[in-house]
Amino acid sequence: MRRVASIFMFCLLILLTTCTKNVYNPDVCFHENVLPIFISNCTMNGCHNSTEFKGGFDLTNYDGIMQGIKAKHPLMSELYNSIRGNNPSMPPRSNTPLSSHDITYIKLWIEMGAPNSSNCNACDTSNYSYSNRINPIFQNWCVGCHNANYSSQGINLSDYAGASNPIVINRIVGSIEHSPGYFAMPQSGSQLSQCDINAIVKWINNGHPNN
Ligand code: HEC
Repeated sequence: MRRVASIFMFCLLILLTTCTKNVYNPDVCFHENVLPIFISNCTMNGCHNSTEFKGGFDLTNYDGIMQGIKAKHPLMSELYNSIRGNNPSMPPRSNTPLSSHDITYIKLWIEMGAPNSSNCNACDTSNYSYSNRINPIFQNWCVGCHNANYSSQGINLSDYAGASNPIVINRIVGSIEHSPGYFAMPQSGSQLSQCDINAIVKWINNGHPNN
C-alpha cells in the first residue's frame, strides 16, 4: 500500500513539475511577457503613466518599471509586493485583478534578474490566425483597458465578437501603427513589436477571419 502511495506521489510530482514548466516558462522575454502586463493593467488614465505618475511610478517602459523592482529579489520589490497575496493593493479593487499567471510571470522575471530582454522569440511571419496569434496579442497588451466592464471607447478586445466590431477593424491599424489622426495604441507610449503589428495587419487584410 505504502509503495503504491509513494509511486503515486512520485508521478504526481513529475506531472506537477512538467506542467509548471510548460505554463510558466521562466525564460521570459521582457517586451513580450512582462511589459504588456504593466501596460494593459496599470497605465490607464489616472494611473501609472508618463503624464500621471501615480505613486511616483510610470509603468509604461522598462526604466520606469525598474524603479519598483529589486532584481533577483521579488519580496524586496515594491511592485511585486503590491500585486501578490490574498488582498493585493494593486490593481485597485474596482479594476480587474491580475491573473495568477501574470503574477507568477513577474515573479519569475524578477528572480531571473529582471533583464530588459532575453529569450525573445524569432518573428513567425506565417501565423496570423485569430486564436493562435491575434487574440493572444490582445489578451497580453489590450484587454486591461478594453474588456466587457472597462471598454475604452466602447471597444472590447477580449473575444472575437468584440475584436471584429467595425470600429476596431476600421481604426486598429492606424492606432497600432501610431499614424496621425488615430489614438496611438496601446495607450501611453509603448508600441507593439513590428512582428505583432504585421500579424494584425495581415489578419485584417485577410478579412479578419475567426480561425
Ligand atoms: C492603458 C489603457 C489602454 C490600453 C492598454 C489599450 N487601449 Fe486602446 N484605447 C484606450 C482609450 C482610453 C481609448 C479611447 C481614446 C483615448 O482616449 O485615447 C482607446 C481607443 C482605442 C481605439 C480607437 C482608436 C481611434 O483612433 O479611433 C482602438 C482601435 C484601440 N484603442 C485599440 C487598442 C489595441 C489594439 C490595444 C492593444 C494593442 C489597446 N487599444 C490598448 C485605452 C487603452
